[in-house]
Amino acid sequence: MITSRIVGTGSYVPEQIVTNDDLAKIVETNDEWIRTRTGIRQRRIATSEGTSDLAAKAAERAIEQAGIKPEEIDLIILATSSQDYCFPSGACEVQGRVGAVNAVCYDLSAACTGFVFALNTAQAFIQSGVYRTALVVGSEVLSKLIDWKDRSTCVLFGDGAGAVVVRADETGILGFQMHSDGTKGNVLTCGARSNGNFLMNQKPELSYMTMDGQEVFKFAVKRVPEVISQLLEKTGTPIEEIRYFVLHQANYRIIESVAKRLKVGMEKFPANMEYYGNTSGASIPLLLDEMNRAGKLNPGDKIILSGFGGGLTWGATLIQW
Ligand code: UT7
Repeated sequence: MITSRIVGTGSYVPEQIVTNDDLAKIVETNDEWIRTRTGIRQRRIATSEGTSDLAAKAAERAIEQAGIKPEEIDLIILATSSQDYCFPSGACEVQGRVGAVNAVCYDLSAACTGFVFALNTAQAFIQSGVYRTALVVGSEVLSKLIDWKDRSTCVLFGDGAGAVVVRADETGILGFQMHSDGTKGNVLTCGARSNGNFLMNQKPELSYMTMDGQEVFKFAVKRVPEVISQLLEKTGTPIEEIRYFVLHQANYRIIESVAKRLKVGMEKFPANMEYYGNTSGASIPLLLDEMNRAGKLNPGDKIILSGFGGGLTWGATLIQW
C-alpha cells in the first residue's frame, strides 16, 4: 500500500528571546505564575520577519535534509492562522522562495491543529496517487495578533515555524483521525480584518486574539486522549507500541493530564514549550524537527502527532518513522 513518509524535517525561530521577566515589565504577571501554570519560560518573537519568512527558512532546511530538488515538490500546504496577507497565500510565497516551480500551493486554517490537518491532507493526496511529494509547513507570527495588554493571552504564545517533506513510500503514515466542532468557535477567536462592508460603509475591524482559557483546557484534556484512542483502535495499534506522543505545545499541564488519562509515562511525551511558548500551527513540526536532529527518532518508531485548538478542531496522525 502506498502511504507518505517523512523524509526531511526543518524548523526556524526568530532570534529575539522574550523571557517571562520581560513580560512582567509590561503586564501584571510574574515568572512563577507563567512557569507553574504553563511550563513556559521564554518565547521567540519576530521583530522584522513575517510568517512566510519563517516558513520559507524552515522549508529550506527540510528540503535540504530530504535531499530532494525543489522542482520535485508537487504540493505545498502552509498551516497558519497568522498569514502576512489575505492573498497571495503564504504557501505561494514559500514556493517562490524555495523554487518549487511545479508545486500547487495553498494555506490551511485550523489554528493549533493546522499542521496535523495539513499533513493528513497531503497524505490523502499521496495515498490516492494524485501527488508523490509534498512540503507541509506550520508557521506563525502570532505576536502580531496578540493584545500585549491582555495578560491572559500574551504570556502564552510565541513565533516560529516547522516543516516536513513527505514522499510516497511503502511505510510512513499509518492512519489519521480528525474532528471539528463549529458550535464552540467562540472560546478561541481572532477577528482581525473582519466586518468590513462597502455597502454599509464600514471599515474592517482589527481585533486581537481572545481565549476562554479554562474552556480550551477542558476541551483539550478530554478530546486529545479520545482522538488518540480512536486512532489506535482504528489502526489496531496497542498503545504500548507508541514510542512518542508529540502533542501540540500549549501547556505542560495539558500534556500531563493527557498522559495520565492514557496511562502512559511522561517520558513518552517530549516537550519544548519551555523555550518557545505556544507556537500554534508550528509547534508540532518544530518539536519533531528538534527530536529528529537530536537523533531521537529511529526507523520503525511509531509516533503519534496530535493537535488541538481553535475552531474547535482536533486530530491525530500515526506515523512509522
Ligand atoms: O493553543 C490553543 C489552545 N490553548 C490552550 O490550550 C490554552 C488552554 N488553557 C490554559 O492553558 C490555561 O487555562 C491558562 C494557562 C490560559 C490559564 O491557566 P488557569 O490555571 O486556567 O488560570 P485561570 O484563567 O483560572 O486564572 C487563575 C488566576 C486568575 O486570578 P483570580 O481570578 O484567581 O484572582 C487570573 O486573573 O490567574 C490570573 N491570571 C494571571 N496571573 C498572573 C491570569 N493570567 C495571569 C498571568 N499572570 N499571566
